[in-house]
Amino acid sequence: MRKIVISTGGGDAPGLNAVIYAVVKSASMRGWEVYGSRSGYRGLLDYDDLVRLTPKEVEGITPIGGTILGSTNKENPFAMPITNLAGEVKVVDVSNRVLENFKRMGFYCHIAVGGDGSLEIAHRFAQKGMPVIGVPKTIDNDLKATDRTFGFDTAVATATEALDKLHSTAKSHDRVMVVEVMGRESGWIALYSGISGGADVILIPEVPFDIDKVCEKITDNELHDKHYSIVVVAEGAKAKDGTVVVKEKGELGRQEVVLGGIGERVARQIREKLGKDTRSLVLGHLQRGGSPTTFDRLLALRFGAAAVRMAEAGTFDHMVAWTPPCMSAVPLAEAVSSRKMVDLESDKVMTAREIGICLGD
Ligand code: F6P
Repeated sequence: MRKIVISTGGGDAPGLNAVIYAVVKSASMRGWEVYGSRSGYRGLLDYDDLVRLTPKEVEGITPIGGTILGSTNKENPFAMPITNLAGEVKVVDVSNRVLENFKRMGFYCHIAVGGDGSLEIAHRFAQKGMPVIGVPKTIDNDLKATDRTFGFDTAVATATEALDKLHSTAKSHDRVMVVEVMGRESGWIALYSGISGGADVILIPEVPFDIDKVCEKITDNELHDKHYSIVVVAEGAKAKDGTVVVKEKGELGRQEVVLGGIGERVARQIREKLGKDTRSLVLGHLQRGGSPTTFDRLLALRFGAAAVRMAEAGTFDHMVAWTPPCMSAVPLAEAVSSRKMVDLESDKVMTAREIGICLGD
């Protein structure tokens, strides 16, 4: 009988529990045993954090947000911060211990559900000899190898609902409402929710913006007797004059950009330039919470089942990807090598422009 282990890493995304559910159910159907590693790789470091997952255990978890296994952004077994008795923090490589425990437990393979950071770690384990299969997760939808990541549709639905609600309050007060949404260095959430939620302006990292163009659109609204405007700003949006601060090297050596705060900066500039009553808000982690949409549930369940099929076929060091109309297996190295940005020639961008949305250029 085969034994497999599943972990969830990185930021949470609606649909994580649906992946766990599908993995447990479809592996059990094959007569395999499934274990969950709590908090990323913790379960493979300390058996107390390893839990047996039976179909009974996962009953009813599909619609629940978050992850029953816990997630972690901070811990990378290849560079794990450990506090010694003197209270000093040292960064150590505990990957060999993880691998030894994996073998000692007699696991056949590891299904790692995560974003690019977690999948990069999974790939490093694959190179060390651990049979690994990745499942792509992120609300940002910025993984190139897959058409969609689960969590994105729910984040867009949450942002769209917020925009719908903001219309009535903006209109009542003749205000400009500036809404900052997540998305890291890509504009997927901003574009999809902005179009669906009736935004007047959408600012995305892929289109560096000119604040004067934003103000022109708001003024044009006024001239057409529309005295309120909704501006959606992706957290990674940047002005043409370039105001993105590169903070530090991330855990895995990538450059990380300081995100957030751009919405308030845009609001301040609109206020200063037009003297218009303007408010800003940051939707933040609301976009990661709550029950997954039907689309995300289905995608996550399909990812989970496809990952078990890949395990059965022995397709390791690969990530399951949705390449419509079918699921496929993409080498992990390729999956984590590049980010997917909004295609400016796509019909979504064309639609935005053609229905009068200003992209700030
Ligand atoms: O990658 C998902 C995401 O929610 C991004 O959209 C956002 O920039 C980041 O994670 C926030 O991370 P944290 O949960 O560490 O604040």
